[in-house]
Amino acid sequence: MTLRAIILGAAAGGGLPQWNCGCDNCNLARSGDIPAQTQSSLAISPDGLNWAVLNASPDIRVQLSNTHALFPSGLRQMPIQSVLVTNGDIDHVAGLLTLREMQPFTLFATRSIHEVLGQNPIFDALNASVVTRSSISLDQPFELVPDLQATLFPVPGKVPLYLEGETVQTDLIGEQTVGVALSADGKTAYYIPGCAALTPDLRAQLEGADLVFFDGTLWQDDEMVRAGLGQKTGKRMGHMSMDGPDGSIASFADMNIGRKVFVHMNNTNPVLRPDSAEKSQAQAAGWTIGQDGMEITL
Ligand code: MLT
Ligand code: MN
Ligand code: ZN
Repeated sequence: MTLRAIILGAAAGGGLPQWNCGCDNCNLARSGDIPAQTQSSLAISPDGLNWAVLNASPDIRVQLSNTHALFPSGLRQMPIQSVLVTNGDIDHVAGLLTLREMQPFTLFATRSIHEVLGQNPIFDALNASVVTRSSISLDQPFELVPDLQATLFPVPGKVPLYLEGETVQTDLIGEQTVGVALSADGKTAYYIPGCAALTPDLRAQLEGADLVFFDGTLWQDDEMVRAGLGQKTGKRMGHMSMDGPDGSIASFADMNIGRKVFVHMNNTNPVLRPDSAEKSQAQAAGWTIGQDGMEITL
C-alpha cells in the first residue's frame, strides 16, 4: 500500500491567473511565461484505487478531467469515494455544485461547516438520496476511504468571507477551519491549506510527520497591499505568511518533518515564479512549492 497525494489545485482562491487581476504573476501566467495554477484542492488515496478529494474548488471540473487517476472506471463508477471540506470558503466548497449528477459519495465536514452548507439551498443540488453528509467531530478518527484514516483538528482561522460580521476574529479555534491528519499503512500526512498561526499544539501535532501540505497563501503579510491590490493583509485573511520571523519557513525550521509542501498560494506570491529568489529561499529551507498535478507518494 502506498499513500498517494495529487495536488489538484495549488493556488488560493482566485487561481493564477485570477480573472480580474493584472498583477505581474497573473500577466505572466496569461502569457504562458509561468505555469497557471488552479484553485485549492488535494486528492488522496491509500491504494491508488479509492480516492478522497480534500476541498472542492470552483476548478474541480478541469482538475478531474486532467487527473487520470480520477477518471471514471465505468459508466457511472468513480474512484472518488468521498469529499472533505476544511472550511466553508468559496474556493473550497463551490466545486460541490459541479459534483451533482446523482453521483454517490460521502461529504465529510465538521458540524459547523455542514450547517453553513445546509443553510444554503443551492447545495441541495447534491441529492441527499446519493450524497451522504457526514458530520465529523474534532479529534475523532474516521475512515475517509477504506484503509485511510483521517482526523480533523482545529487550526486558527476565521469564518468564511461571506459570513464575516462587523468584527472578525482571525484566529478562532473551533470547527470553522480545520486541518486533516491522514494515516495509512503507518504513514502520516497532514493537509492544512489555511492556518493563521502555528500554535504550540499544532507544532506538537505535526512533529515527526512524514508529509505536511501547508498554507502558502502569501510570501509576506502585506504583499497584496504593497502590490496595490487592496488593504488586506495575510493576518486579516487568517493566513500566516511564508517569510519573516513569525512566518511558516522560520516556524517549521527546527521541526522534524519528512516532506513540507506549500499549497494554496495566492497569485501575488513570488514563489509561483519558477526562477524567483523567494522560491529558491523556500526550497533551501526544505520546502517544495506545490504545483497543479504534482504527485507525492509515501
Ligand atoms: C481565503 O483563503 O482566505 C479565502 O478563500 C478567501 C476567499 O474566500 O476568497
Ligand atoms: Mn482560500
Ligand atoms: Zn494577480
